[in-house]
Amino acid sequence: MCPVPGSWALDTTQPATVAAARCVAYFTIEVGARESEIMSEVFRPFERLVEISVLGRTFLVPEKNSVLRCFQFISPDTIPYGRFCWNQECQYCRVDCQLADDTQARPILSCKFMVSEGMNISQLAPELVGCLRSKLGP
Ligand code: FES
Repeated sequence: MCPVPGSWALDTTQPATVAAARCVAYFTIEVGARESEIMSEVFRPFERLVEISVLGRTFLVPEKNSVLRCFQFISPDTIPYGRFCWNQECQYCRVDCQLADDTQARPILSCKFMVSEGMNISQLAPELVGCLRSKLGP
């Protein structure tokens, strides 16, 4: 709700433009706070971001979250619209990944596996390639 008492157009104590600007600023803060609230509902609580590599590109993603959720952190406008079951059935989230202390990459389901610092993801399932295309570049 706009903090300007009553209808700002009828507020005679200040010019209408000042009151309108305050309403717009308040609305912007409200929308931003709600957006932030929605994002915090999606991700498990985290204190810091960890660095991972996806097809040679480096990203910072929230610790204590699944790799698929971290892909959503990287690309919030596309991952939610992918055909992902999020419960280890569809296999559309499969990636090849090498952990910092591993000697070679191995296939994992990104909806099941938790992200870790230094993780190197070298191959993505086609559904992920489509969803992350704009973030990974040509
Ligand atoms: S999202 Fe379906 S198996 Fe991971």
